[in-house]
Amino acid sequence: MASGFDGLFLVAANPVDILSYAVKEFSGFPRERVISSGTSLDSARFCDEISRYVEVDPRDVSAFIMGEHGDTSFPVWSNASIGGRKVTDWIADKTDDVDGVKEKIYTNVRDVAYRIIETKGATYYGVATVLARICRHIIEDSHSIITVGACLEGEYGYHGVYMGTPCILGRNGIEKIIELPLSEEEKEKMDISYHALKTVQDKGMKEVQG
Ligand SMILES: NC(=O)c1ccc[n+]([C@@H]2O[C@H](COP(=O)([O-])OP(=O)(O)OC[C@H]3O[C@@H](n4cnc5c(N)ncnc54)[C@H](O)[C@@H]3O)[C@@H](O)[C@H]2O)c1
Repeated sequence: MASGFDGLFLVAANPVDILSYAVKEFSGFPRERVISSGTSLDSARFCDEISRYVEVDPRDVSAFIMGEHGDTSFPVWSNASIGGRKVTDWIADKTDDVDGVKEKIYTNVRDVAYRIIETKGATYYGVATVLARICRHIIEDSHSIITVGACLEGEYGYHGVYMGTPCILGRNGIEKIIELPLSEEEKEKMDISYHALKTVQDKGMKEVQG
């Protein structure tokens, strides 16, 4: 900051939600200029898992993983769609066990990082791809919608914490945080994610700031 840096921060290092908050606090930047990779990778993996099951191009899947980039993340099934039709209806076309398949899809998304680390040591291509995509949206000022980690200030009823949510990205960073309507169950999951993050963040910030 002392060098006069006046750009945007895109944070990917873990724990990414907590470190993004620290970057925002220490830089003094407005929240739209400190972007967390958040659940962007998780959401890309979610679309991929869904697309494999229903056999539709992943680019046609609109589905989001929200909350912490970690174990309390959650899938937003209530808003997941393909071609204007609910993803749960697409799944129901193929199986009677819709809940079982939904659970399997989400578990694969949540645990794939552990599998990749076990087999090749670290995850890098996936996150590099989503970081490149985020940068492209910013550089091209595309106003595209992508799930990133944004500092919530009243959205979803939360304040001062980074959480994964769909956002519109452009030249100025986060142009708009899209507040998805969530089901009661999804709201409860977001609450669990919020409290998990806030507890660690408050403790960490207190230790660093004294
Ligand atoms: N957000 C995501 O979805 C996601 C996905 C994968 C990895 N990650 C995170 O990305 C980070 C990097 O992962 P990796 O596998 O590339 O780790 P790595 O250990 O291979 O690379 C870290 C690099 O940072 C350098 N480094 C350490 N301290 C430094 C400092 N003070 N100044 C400058 N450089 C420094 C190290 O020399 C090393 O080259 C980790 O925090 C990891 O958890 C995030």
